[in-house]
Formats: sequence, C-alpha cells, structure tokens
Amino acid sequence: MKPLILLNFKTYKEVSGDKALVLAKKISQVSKPDYTVAIAPPLLLLKQIAQKVKIPVYSQHVDYKDYGANTGRILPAEVKALGCMGVIINHSEHRLPIAVIEKTVIACKKKKLKTVVCAQSLGVIKKVAQFKSDYIAYEPPALIGGAISITEAQPGIIVKAVDLVKKLSPRTKLLVGAGVKKAEDVGQALALGAKGVLIGSAAAKAKDPKKFLKELLI
Ligand code: G3P
Repeated sequence: MKPLILLNFKTYKEVSGDKALVLAKKISQVSKPDYTVAIAPPLLLLKQIAQKVKIPVYSQHVDYKDYGANTGRILPAEVKALGCMGVIINHSEHRLPIAVIEKTVIACKKKKLKTVVCAQSLGVIKKVAQFKSDYIAYEPPALIGGAISITEAQPGIIVKAVDLVKKLSPRTKLLVGAGVKKAEDVGQALALGAKGVLIGSAAAKAKDPKKFLKELLI
C-alpha cells in the first residue's frame, strides 16, 4: 500500500475560486508513482475539480445525513456522486461530537467513501479507533499551520499513535499532519510508522506547487 499524501486546500485565499482548479491541475500533473497523492479542495469546487483531475479527491467535510430536508448539509451520497473517493471527518477546524463521528463514518462506509478521521490527541484516537475508519489522522492543533513539523516536535507521540491504532484497529492506517512541508518531514513520518501525511498550508500556498511536490516526495 503506497503512502497517502493528502493535500488539504482548506479555504485559503490562495485557492479561492478558480485558483483551486489551477492548483489541482498542477498537482495532478506531477507523477510520483511511489505515493498516492490526493487532494481535498474547497467544497464548492469539488465537482468541477473531481471531473477534471485523475488523482483522488477528498471532501474536507461531510455530514451523516441522507437525502431529505437537511438544509446546508453535505451528503455522503452527493459527495460520492460528484466523484470523490473519500472524506475528511472531524478536522481540527471542523470538529464533531464523537457520536456524530461514528454516524458519519458509518454513512460514508455505506457509500464506499474512504474515511479519514482526524484526532487531536491519543485520547481521541482511542475513542475514534472503534469506528474502524480507513485512516486516522493525528494532528496536534497547536502545530497546524506552523513552522515546526509534527515529526520534529512529537516523534514519540507519533510512535505511540502508530502502536495504539495497530492495537485497536489493525486495518486503520495512521496519518500525521501539522507543519509538514519538506521531504525530511515525510521521510520521518513514514520512518516512525505513519502511512502518510496531511498537508495544508505548504501545499495551498506554494508559489510553485509542482516544484513543491517534486521536492517533497523523493
Ligand atoms: O489538514 C491538514 C492540516 O490541518 C495541516 O495543516 O498547514 O499545518 O500543513 P498545515
């Protein structure tokens, strides 16, 4: 199984409107056969981008609701129909109660969407591991968007998180994210046992996204 490199565009100004499509196209043009490079574009551009690029597209959020009177909800069924491969659930910037995370994972599995459940601590990893998502992404909020990579700041906790997930949900793969921006960070994450990384600002704000990705994945 190749490491997953999930680039979360968030809602940065740098990817507003059509700029997200431009960035998605550039990323999709970089060939890195040893990795699965995926993107999570702004929600309103999901359809447009999923139709135009060949790399996996994830939704930055989803709700567990199905068709019906659910104003403003993002439905797993629709996300799937738009061409998404998976979803991010409970990102630090879009937290959900534990019971809602469970319902959301169940709803996404029914639609055969890959699930990436974010967790901000070992305690939360313990709670969400029981839902058997495809991935758990450990991201300490204080390091998100910062200069220091989680791999430098918390190598010991990453190892603990890897062990915890292996023990509680052997089929779930652990991703790590926060401050990841260099090849060394990715190499260190994989060396510590993570199966991939989540990257936000470094990808969304890259001056030259192709160069960024080529240098990130060696
Ligand atoms: O979803 C990825 C994320 O929260 C990490 O963001 O900017 O630290 O790479 P960043």
